[in-house]
Amino acid sequence: MKLKGQHIFVTGGAAGIGAAIVLDAAQEGAKVSFCDINVEGGKAYEAELNSKGFQAMFHEADVGQFESLEKAHKAIVAKFGDINGAVNNAGVNSNADPVQMTDAEWNRFMNVDLKSVWHTAKLVLPAMRKAKKGSIVNIASIHARMSYPKYFPYAAAKAGVIGLTHNLALDEGIHNIRTNAVSPGYTLTDILEKWFTQLPEKRAESLAVQVMGRMAQPSEIAKVVSFLLSDDASFVNGADWIVDGGLHARFA
Ligand SMILES: NC(=O)c1ccc[n+]([C@@H]2O[C@H](COP(=O)([O-])OP(=O)(O)OC[C@H]3O[C@@H](n4cnc5c(N)ncnc54)[C@H](O)[C@@H]3O)[C@@H](O)[C@H]2O)c1
Repeated sequence: MKLKGQHIFVTGGAAGIGAAIVLDAAQEGAKVSFCDINVEGGKAYEAELNSKGFQAMFHEADVGQFESLEKAHKAIVAKFGDINGAVNNAGVNSNADPVQMTDAEWNRFMNVDLKSVWHTAKLVLPAMRKAKKGSIVNIASIHARMSYPKYFPYAAAKAGVIGLTHNLALDEGIHNIRTNAVSPGYTLTDILEKWFTQLPEKRAESLAVQVMGRMAQPSEIAKVVSFLLSDDASFVNGADWIVDGGLHARFA
């Protein structure tokens, strides 16, 4: 019960890593609110969690649009009170061609994968500053350091997430608000499945380089997030926790 009585907010919580973070925080005793663009999935997950005795609330929001996030924030706080911990998890892949990509596509992608981290912080920080306590966890990626061909400009967005994590950690630490990043490696969710479906040869190729002979389950990322949200991590600030089974240590 690491998060007993706390209100944890998770973006993109209807599926994948986000859904695992929602569940783990609930199992650790938190009231958990989450947003997603997948309304059907979000509502179904909210009902499932509440039927199991957890306190969960879903609200539709597109993290790429501030007004949408602001509306969700308002409703969520009205129900569960001020947010004690926020997880910026919502994200999409980008496999654009640098010549073909339009400004509109760039802006849309960066709004979702990078700017949303600032927008969530903008909404949750005032109450955290007042409370002199808070924790923000940003889901980056191993792509922030070393990427892969045909991922333009995903690596730039994820490197930006780590940069924003540093800025927030340095500016908000004085208010006892900790900001950290978690960088997952290959994690078995829809986003990865979609990539394997587009390029079937990547499945065996990706498995072959795994140091531990397997990819991560979303719950293995969620455990680290819950730790960073909790008081057990009370002096962890501005860090990037790599959860990739050792892949980053591999040369080739
Ligand atoms: N799966 C991996 O291997 C992996 C590795 C490293 C980092 N990540 C990162 O982890 C995070 C979660 O990825 P995942 O694998 O669970 O993906 P996923 O596609 O399985 O789930 C993402 C969730 O976010 C939601 N979402 C997408 N765009 C949104 C928006 N604009 N507003 C609100 N919700 C939105 C989706 O509807 C979905 O429910 C992402 O930031 C991703 O970049 C994933």
